[in-house]
Amino acid sequence: MDAPKEIFLKDYKLPDYYFDTVDLSFFLGEEKTTVSAKISVVPRVDGGAAPLVLDGVDLKLISVKINGNELKEGEFQVGPRHLILTSPPSGNFILETVTEILPHKNTSLEGLYKSSGNFCTQCEAEGFRKITFYQDRPDIMAKYTCRIEANKSLYPVLLSNGNLIEQGDLEGGNHFALWEDPFKKPCYLFALVAGQLESRDDTFTTCSGRKVALKIWTPPQDLPKTEHAMYSLKAAMKWDEDVFGREYDLDIFNIVSVPDFNMGAMENKSLNIFNSKLVLASPETATDADYAAILGVIGHEYFHNWTGNRVTCRDWFQLSLKEGLTVFRDQEFSSDMGSRTVKRIGDVSKLRTYQFPQDAGPMAHPVRPHSYIKMDNFYTVTVYEKGAEVVRMYKTLLGSQGFRKGTDLYFERHDGQAVTCEDFFAAMRDANDADFANFLLWYSQAGTPIVKVTSSYNAEARTFSLKFSQTVPPTPGQPVKEPMFIPVAAGLLDSSGKDMPLSSIYHDGKLESVACCGQPVYTTVLRVTKGEEEFTFSDVPEKPIPSLLRGYSAPIRLQSDLTDDDLFFLLAHDSDEFNRWEAGQILARKLMLSQVANFQKSSPLVLDPQFVHGIKCILLDSSLDKEFIAKAITLPGEGEVMDLMEVADPDAVHAVRKFIRKQLASQLKHEFLNLVKENRSSEKYVFDHTNMARRTLKNTALGYLASLEDEEITELVLHEYKTATNMTDQFSALAAIAQKPGKARDDALADFYNQWQHDYLVVNKWFALQSSSDIPGNVENVHKLLSHQAFDIKNPNKVYSLIGGFCASPVNFHAKDGSGYKFLGEIVVQLDKLNPQVASRMVSAFSRWKRYDETRQNLAKAQLEKIVSANGLSENVYEIASKSLA
Ligand code: PHE
Ligand code: ZN
Repeated sequence: MDAPKEIFLKDYKLPDYYFDTVDLSFFLGEEKTTVSAKISVVPRVDGGAAPLVLDGVDLKLISVKINGNELKEGEFQVGPRHLILTSPPSGNFILETVTEILPHKNTSLEGLYKSSGNFCTQCEAEGFRKITFYQDRPDIMAKYTCRIEANKSLYPVLLSNGNLIEQGDLEGGNHFALWEDPFKKPCYLFALVAGQLESRDDTFTTCSGRKVALKIWTPPQDLPKTEHAMYSLKAAMKWDEDVFGREYDLDIFNIVSVPDFNMGAMENKSLNIFNSKLVLASPETATDADYAAILGVIGHEYFHNWTGNRVTCRDWFQLSLKEGLTVFRDQEFSSDMGSRTVKRIGDVSKLRTYQFPQDAGPMAHPVRPHSYIKMDNFYTVTVYEKGAEVVRMYKTLLGSQGFRKGTDLYFERHDGQAVTCEDFFAAMRDANDADFANFLLWYSQAGTPIVKVTSSYNAEARTFSLKFSQTVPPTPGQPVKEPMFIPVAAGLLDSSGKDMPLSSIYHDGKLESVACCGQPVYTTVLRVTKGEEEFTFSDVPEKPIPSLLRGYSAPIRLQSDLTDDDLFFLLAHDSDEFNRWEAGQILARKLMLSQVANFQKSSPLVLDPQFVHGIKCILLDSSLDKEFIAKAITLPGEGEVMDLMEVADPDAVHAVRKFIRKQLASQLKHEFLNLVKENRSSEKYVFDHTNMARRTLKNTALGYLASLEDEEITELVLHEYKTATNMTDQFSALAAIAQKPGKARDDALADFYNQWQHDYLVVNKWFALQSSSDIPGNVENVHKLLSHQAFDIKNPNKVYSLIGGFCASPVNFHAKDGSGYKFLGEIVVQLDKLNPQVASRMVSAFSRWKRYDETRQNLAKAQLEKIVSANGLSENVYEIASKSLA
């Protein structure tokens, strides 16, 4: 391997040349594809004759011309990564290149590749350089045309960005299509698709009356499964008009579903390409979670048309500018389409389960990273999910209207530009004349801030004080941190559980009024900006219970001095539903940690009756949303609890979580049984909040019950499995049965495979259910499944299901004999030769090896060392593995 080169944000330089127009012409053949590119080049500064460096990887250069003249030896250099024009003419010129590529041999799934016989592209972040020689960086924005020529019977459908302006038949059974995209774009948004596809067609009329043709393309047999995707697309288009004032800007919008895709989906201008698992759904084959994911991701990619495409990133360090913002937008969209609280709970759980560990490990990086070796490695939960939290904080600070003013100004200022995170910040600030103090630190400092808060009530003065102190833990390259600007939404509950009206707060030597326009205020946003800081509420008639960080107003770890009684009180009464859930989670985490200590001392495990009572009250509270109940009775995940331990102990945490679940099931068996009976689905599957909430609650209850050793329950779960009329219920019942090894499990798994073997998306669920199972010694099963006829290591979804699923089960992946580590180590090396991006995602499972005991550390480290020393290792895997070892 060439010595991997690290790229730094601080080294950003404007390009020496801009590209104005780009005319591409593809000849798609079975053996090879020929790409001709004609680019009009404009030097940035007049008279500059700096070399023009074009990126290009795995390309065969056939010819290169400037202003129509073929270049001769000495006038250019070609290497494995670049084509350099040593002394281009001064002034504007036309550059023409012809290259050849081999899409059918491309297993990396970036650039132009084949998926199930069809051609498709993936260019973000740096895949365009695998298609043609180009300045492959997002601040080069050009207008494109794209001509595609191919055999008509093999590739009847030819798609690219923008409008179709010409098409026709050619000699020899070929045909062509010419597409023109009127909008300037960076090359990472270029896309081409060619193949045997059919479309579901619909239309959307925009707020200004433009009629847009909507087309969702799939192989013919999948077409019936696109109804929900179309519904989601139309809902997203409407929502973006209503909530952000953003209208669609072309007469056509295409979505293509492909089975082989590294990521979830891609927002190419007017030609979104989707991983098929995020488009295709039918009630019989997709779960509620799939339906919800499709809604969110269709929204996400559509929303990118404004946040990403019309306004794009100056360089890849700014990725969160488009991703954090677009995730925030898709979260809000899903909230408005379903339940806001439940959506928020899901998003916060995701942050805690995946982003907190990243922020505390060797790959910790700021929302805007300072450096990278492979950009692919920075499509992370930090850039996406923490980035979305950063955007959410602007809204928390400015309110809905102020936030909207900010986004309006952002679009007005930067339409058609490639910009930075500061530009977004400045738009928010300027539109509101806001004081954001040191808010920008959220983009540059990694690590999850830890905020401690203590409270005190002064009965005589009728004041209530909150004292905050914050620290940001050290992360690689950032040993010392500055205090951050943390918006803490807070309210006070009186002894009856009602919100107290807030009058004024004394802070920083000033008394500020909270109430506004005569309306009582129950939640206020405290601006915590210092290492230590106090806020004192005045006119507080009785000792309150504070409800802090309402709605999870900042991505921090909050440690408060609330007692268990306070927390049970909040669980029962808080008007902020999110914080009701949160109170239950804090109690559950405490409980689990205390029992982990017992387990490690070999003391018997016990379950606090007050906890059981708290859960029972939630279960029986008919005023609560059913999906909320399901979330509130779900214990924090094993990873989340391990994250709170000095030395992570997967066996202890697993045993404790299992113990508590079983105890709850046996003590609340009657209640759980009722929930199952009362919430069975009606015949017809409806994807709306009410129906989904019923199913979720019923299946959560069923999952609890199935942890019992009980004939009657086994019968019940089998009955649910057999009578299920949709995949949500069927799969939940299967998962419930699969909790315990034995004949019932084996039979059900075999039956399920038999029923669904024709549907690869369902088969992937079947793989994942088995691979992530906690049954002892599961690594052997997973090994066997690798050679199952339905498995294919070249397909990312199958790898994520089988291998990713295995790594998600702490007991088996972290098995003390090292079998899990060895398994993953071998797979990563094998996978890396085919698809470095997928291999690199898998190797990340090792990254927190230092959190475990010495035996495990040594075993994991040995695997990482072996990987790093493998021949021909990709930069992708090298970066993750070597940073993990450092
Ligand atoms: N930009 C895509 C998104 O919407 C993600 C992606 C990145 C897809 C890189 C493919 C490659 O989030
Ligand atoms: Zn995105």
